Amino acid sequence: AAAKITMDPAFVVGPVRRRTFGAFVEHLGRCVYTGIFEPEHPTADRDGFRGDVLELTRELGVSTVRYPGGNFVSGYRWEDGVGPVEQRPVRLDLAWHSSDPNLVGVDEFAKWSAKAGVETMMAVNLGTRGTQEALDLLEYCNIDGGTAFSDQRRANGAEKGYGIKMWCLGNEMDGPWQIGHKSAHEYGRLAADTARGMRMLDPDLELVACGSSGPTMPTFGEWERVVLSETYDLVDLVSAHQYFEDFGDLQEHLAAGHKMDAFIRDIVAHIDHVKSVRKSGKQINISFDEWNVWHMSRGESKAPSGKDWPVAPVLLEDIYTVADAVVVGDLLITLLRNTDRVHSASLAQLVNVIAPIMTEPGGRAWKQTTFHPFALTSRHASGTVLQLAVESPLVSGGKTTDVAAVSAVATYDAEKGEAVVFAVNRSATDALRLDAAVSAFGNVQVVEALTYANKDPYWQATADDSTSVLPAENVTAKADGGRLTAELPAVSWSMIRLA
Ligand code: AHR
Repeated sequence: AAAKITMDPAFVVGPVRRRTFGAFVEHLGRCVYTGIFEPEHPTADRDGFRGDVLELTRELGVSTVRYPGGNFVSGYRWEDGVGPVEQRPVRLDLAWHSSDPNLVGVDEFAKWSAKAGVETMMAVNLGTRGTQEALDLLEYCNIDGGTAFSDQRRANGAEKGYGIKMWCLGNEMDGPWQIGHKSAHEYGRLAADTARGMRMLDPDLELVACGSSGPTMPTFGEWERVVLSETYDLVDLVSAHQYFEDFGDLQEHLAAGHKMDAFIRDIVAHIDHVKSVRKSGKQINISFDEWNVWHMSRGESKAPSGKDWPVAPVLLEDIYTVADAVVVGDLLITLLRNTDRVHSASLAQLVNVIAPIMTEPGGRAWKQTTFHPFALTSRHASGTVLQLAVESPLVSGGKTTDVAAVSAVATYDAEKGEAVVFAVNRSATDALRLDAAVSAFGNVQVVEALTYANKDPYWQATADDSTSVLPAENVTAKADGGRLTAELPAVSWSMIRLA
């Protein structure tokens, strides 16, 4: 079977946004402690950051990093994490039933971000706290000096303000599991008040209101309507979170991108409904600030209980398969395809916790399977995202029927003179031929063609063997006379660069 694609640089969806390649560092499990931060580690620098993780973060090509949560932020006192380390309190983290020694706080994270070359996206606590604490944190972070909190930051070693632009107004406030969970109306009012104050301090901030924690939330849609009715003129983005799990039906698992696409279309409808009712000329866009494969119902996600409140326990340490990596590649394709409305996104999370990078305390760091499609897409997608005409065979499995077997997007960088096709074959069983009309680009040749697939799609990378299955050259990819053809194996992710 074949999938036919027509590509033309004239059909533009929007720019490739660097912020699509964001990630997330939460005080959760071993993401911070023994993840990004481990002073005793042989590669640690003098600030206690693991050099091996910094290097992998740069190689992953991460743009923004959301911090410090997640569910954690809804009980967080940011003041605990600043000032002399020996005076910082140990606090209970109720969200993950852990203890936090507060060795890392906003100043350490800002330092780490600078070293990693990423932009910080800060979340404020609208669970147990409110507008005043959010304003205090903003003053601490962004005012250069001459005020109580900014001088405190200077005394703590940071002369200049951090200039953090993106701020999340709370986290998953629609979720009953969230500390300080609210109704849409209660949250919308609080988010509006907080946004109003934050804008008085700095009108140029980019503010994200909490959207739904997923399409299956019973309040999805109505939540967006009510929250945006309160905040429409005060925020820039509404958040979306979505995780995918392999429940044993590979074909259904491989349809994750299709489900994300539907979720994005629904969110856009809910946003634009409010826009239309308000007769507003302003467009609110989506910050897809948590997305990934997360095998939530497996044991790895069970938080400690009872009197056990450990520091940095092993939590949510999912080990990913090649199939999971194909799904992650497809989700990134989906986010890019929707670049007109998805203006920012964060893979949740970065290290150890449902992450592309894994570490051993005191030991090795390695790449999970999901690292590869993310790193390659981040490195090579540039310029504009193109609207493709795709005719694909359909696949069905589990509860999903008639899903396009090929999910693809292309980017075109006129300056580099390079077009890149990213394509996933979602079929669990059948290889497909890609047949793309590319004559609108002139007489292009294949510069590089890589495919990530394996005979056993359940292969997993480990500390001992993370390199025996890697993206490999796809020798079948050929461009000739305005036609690009390539074999796409079942359960595969591919990137084909043309120039
Ligand atoms: O990323 C893990 C958790 O998933 C986050 O803390 C929360 O926001 C979401 O439910």
